[in-house]
Amino acid sequence: MPNDTGFPSRSLRDDVVHAAVAGLTATRKTLPPWLFYDQEGCRLFYEITELPEYYLTRTEAAILTSQAAQMVPASVRDAALVEFGASSEHKAGYLLGLTDAAGGPLFRFYLPVDVAQAEMLAMQSRLRQSHPYLRVMPVVADFMQPLRLPPIDGARFGFFPGSTIGNLDPDAAIGFLSRAAETLGRDAWLLLGADLRKDPAIVLPAYNDKAGVTAAFNLNLLTRLNRDAASSFDLETFRHEAIWNDADSRIEMHLISMVEQTVRVAGRAIPFRRGETIHTESSYKYRPETLRELASAGGWRQERIWTDPQGWFGIFLFQRM
Ligand code: AVI
Repeated sequence: MPNDTGFPSRSLRDDVVHAAVAGLTATRKTLPPWLFYDQEGCRLFYEITELPEYYLTRTEAAILTSQAAQMVPASVRDAALVEFGASSEHKAGYLLGLTDAAGGPLFRFYLPVDVAQAEMLAMQSRLRQSHPYLRVMPVVADFMQPLRLPPIDGARFGFFPGSTIGNLDPDAAIGFLSRAAETLGRDAWLLLGADLRKDPAIVLPAYNDKAGVTAAFNLNLLTRLNRDAASSFDLETFRHEAIWNDADSRIEMHLISMVEQTVRVAGRAIPFRRGETIHTESSYKYRPETLRELASAGGWRQERIWTDPQGWFGIFLFQRM
């Protein structure tokens, strides 16, 4: 969450230190994936989305390009599009331009929810030019926390693209879905993009790309801790690894210490055995029925699913139960 000065705010630094110490003093070392996204991490993630091996972003975009007009039910008119995690209008753009038979816009309000305040203000001014009828109301908040939206009339249509749901463990995913149901209210809809379970031979290269961008993205986490959590990681002594965990149907990203060593993190000595790993991210690849069960536990009934011809990625439409 960089502020205008380019440096993290005091409270963000506190959050980074707290997350680092909690994760690295646990029996099985772990770091939460939100730590990836400092300025350099956001840049590297954008580079990942353009890699030939990383099929997720372009597959989702192709489904949205060809099917967006079918994704918004006929009853949704003059509605509010609420996007969870939206530092750019890029993906919402597939929906914001939709019109009804008479040419009227389906969405009158756009509520991006994100911690990236500066990016959302820039997006608001771009949309003022491109969609003058649209009221853009940025909600500066962490979408993983309970939210209160500004009062607006009309239907609420939630949007959670990009398979970010896959970075949440199942309990956290149900927690997010339940809070989204609460936030969006009665009669709401939710359109959610999720990467689907498939041959690991397709999935693994997406997290082990030849150019090493994913490795740089993973290792950047240690650079961030060196800067924001007074740490002494030597990046030459850690390596990136992405493995397929079949039982849990997920990719796991790890940072592996190649030597026995002690690293200082915010005044603490953290010992590493040779070969010991820090689990930095899980990326679940769901069977459609498994995701449907999670959504149901979170208060949503599945209405439809759209996939690409190979069935690699799914866009799910849910209605609140
Ligand atoms: C943001 N998220 C959906 C990405 C994913 O594929 O799980 C993050 C990522 N991690 C490594 N590469 C991309």
